[in-house]
Amino acid sequence: MIVDSNTFDHCLPEVVAAVQPLEQAEFVEVPVGEDCKSVEIASQVWQAMIESGADRNSVVVAVGGGAVCDLAGFVAAGYERGVRLVNIPTSLIAMADAAIGGKTAVNLGGVKNPVGFFKMADIVCVEPSLLASLPKAELKSGAFEVVKTAAVADPELFSELIGGALEPFSAQAITCVAEIKQAIVKADPKDHDIRHILNFGHTFGHAIEAYSVHGGMRMSHGVAVGIGMAMAMRLSVLKLGLAREVYDSYCQYLTQRIEFPQYTLRDAEQMLPLIHHDKKCAGGQVLAVLLRKPGEAVIDVALSDNELLDTLLSGMAL
Ligand code: GLY
Repeated sequence: MIVDSNTFDHCLPEVVAAVQPLEQAEFVEVPVGEDCKSVEIASQVWQAMIESGADRNSVVVAVGGGAVCDLAGFVAAGYERGVRLVNIPTSLIAMADAAIGGKTAVNLGGVKNPVGFFKMADIVCVEPSLLASLPKAELKSGAFEVVKTAAVADPELFSELIGGALEPFSAQAITCVAEIKQAIVKADPKDHDIRHILNFGHTFGHAIEAYSVHGGMRMSHGVAVGIGMAMAMRLSVLKLGLAREVYDSYCQYLTQRIEFPQYTLRDAEQMLPLIHHDKKCAGGQVLAVLLRKPGEAVIDVALSDNELLDTLLSGMAL
């Protein structure tokens, strides 16, 4: 089992009590968050597996958030050319997204996720009660990934979530988006086409997240994606005819939870290369996921630099 110090304290007892065979498991504790995603830590885990006699019939079990699941998948893909993997996600973002779908990676040379494998987990055990110990900020961050999946795939769930009828961290919402993600991954396991819809909000979101580090106030991934979704919806209204009411309702939902950043021209110009660096381009244009209506996402919509700058500068105004 791979755990970090948070999940060792807060989740491991509950997991082991519920899954008795795990009482016999060897466990390795890794650093919290992105710090566990390195070749060095993977190597330490492989070393521990060799020392404890793990063989090709062994199973790697991740108990943690997205970072632990990423590392565990990487480790499981490499050990003995691939052993079985069970993900037990403990954060909302991991339950809704990161633990499902086989994308694994470690960071290298200051770059996020350049080395990794597709390694599908044999079992993903989504147990919402494990969220009880998750800090509020983490829940808030994960909530936007839940809303994202609903936005691109389930119009009813989307309207329940943004209308406040259902909490994104409820067992019902989590189960629903986990199943949606699983179905999308099944249709496009290697991320060639339809799976791209899960990147909704991420074109702007990744740049917003990365740029927030320069400002010294690191924004969480989910919150940045939440803002990125508003920007993508604004462009969807302008380019694909998304209903204005959908955009307005989402903006209302968003501003009740977070402060929308106001970027200057200087900010926007510095964010532009981050967007180009992050996302695939066609003839210099960024390709993004937009929304024709909730549940109907359109992939590979080309966006010019002018459109990107205008979006970053306009805030929520249409
Ligand atoms: N997080 C997006 C995907 O798994 O494809």
